[in-house]
Amino acid sequence: MLRVALIGCGGIAATHVHGYAALPPEDVRVTVVCDADRGSAEALARRAGATQVDEDWATTVARTDIDAVDVCLPHDLHAPVAIAAAEHGKHVIVEKPLATTLADADAMIAAAERSGVVLMCALCERYHPEYECIKEIVDSGVLGDPVLARIDHNQDVEMPPGHWIRQAERIGGGAIASAGCHRLDLLRWYFGEVAAVSSFGYRDPGRMAGEVAGVVNMRFESGAIGTLTINWMSRRRPWYESIWLEGTRGSVHNHGGVHVHSLDVPEWSEDYVRLDVPTADPFAAELRHFVRCIQTGSTPLTDGREARRTMAVALAAYESERSGHTVDPQHPLDSAAEDDA
Ligand SMILES: NC(=O)c1ccc[n+]([C@@H]2O[C@H](COP(=O)([O-])OP(=O)(O)OC[C@H]3O[C@@H](n4cnc5c(N)ncnc54)[C@H](O)[C@@H]3O)[C@@H](O)[C@H]2O)c1
Repeated sequence: MLRVALIGCGGIAATHVHGYAALPPEDVRVTVVCDADRGSAEALARRAGATQVDEDWATTVARTDIDAVDVCLPHDLHAPVAIAAAEHGKHVIVEKPLATTLADADAMIAAAERSGVVLMCALCERYHPEYECIKEIVDSGVLGDPVLARIDHNQDVEMPPGHWIRQAERIGGGAIASAGCHRLDLLRWYFGEVAAVSSFGYRDPGRMAGEVAGVVNMRFESGAIGTLTINWMSRRRPWYESIWLEGTRGSVHNHGGVHVHSLDVPEWSEDYVRLDVPTADPFAAELRHFVRCIQTGSTPLTDGREARRTMAVALAAYESERSGHTVDPQHPLDSAAEDDA
């Protein structure tokens, strides 16, 4: 039985607790919770059935009565906590994005590899039945070669003064690095690696220091192109997202459910056909995956290296806007120099 310490007891932690509750208690249990705010920690401990409450994450990661940590903290704390936990031999699942800088991401990956522990990033959309269904369609080849990917994220994120989300260094940029990383990760999953990025952000300093809305254009290594639009000041509630993937032989979108069209499948060739996708909790699925990877010694779908590649695309968007050049996510600083040459 895997004993988990949940570190950070704010908004998303409750969703993780709900996810753990769906897993067999003989496989995994939240036994410790930690938050700098004791009231938040005690409230979550009651929900999780955890018997131990800490206020200092350094104490938690050093405990001998836990096997893994689940990091649900502000983004600038992901790296120090994950590295310390790995150094104490704890498996780590960390909320998205992996970190705020590639140097921090590399240090997290190195620490996990040195200690032989699992490092997984909670990029939950890859464990969502609708997005898994789209992945199966893309991989089946019925869309032909990838041509164009459009993904759209709309949410109203307004935090009180002083909140970490308002601070560019703490969030690691703005909306693109934060929620945008879910969408960039899906696009990489479907269409492969990104070779070039150009981007613009929209700022409203009354809301946050980083961009509150953004457009990220991409060219994939395959030659396909894609675009992410993200808006964190959308007035429409609840928040919503959409995806539309076009290939040379068909397309798939999730407007009102997964719809597919393919010239190569007789029953899908006339018009879009809506597929029946069962619902399931993606957070329970991602946590089940984490537990299974530890049990079987397998590499998570969204391990540190994979999450780092997604982060690199978001950071390339910032470099593009800063420099006014298109940027190669794998060689961000070379790109501007190449453009200048
Ligand atoms: N997967 C998703 O869809 C999704 C949705 C929301 C948030 N998230 C991610 O979850 C993570 C946390 O976000 P959130 O919305 O829950 O934030 P939050 O602000 O609601 O909660 C963060 C918690 O961390 C605690 N904390 C801050 N500094 C601390 C410290 N030094 N030691 C101990 N505790 C400390 C705070 O007291 C707070 O309770 C982020 O990585 C965020 O991007 C993911």
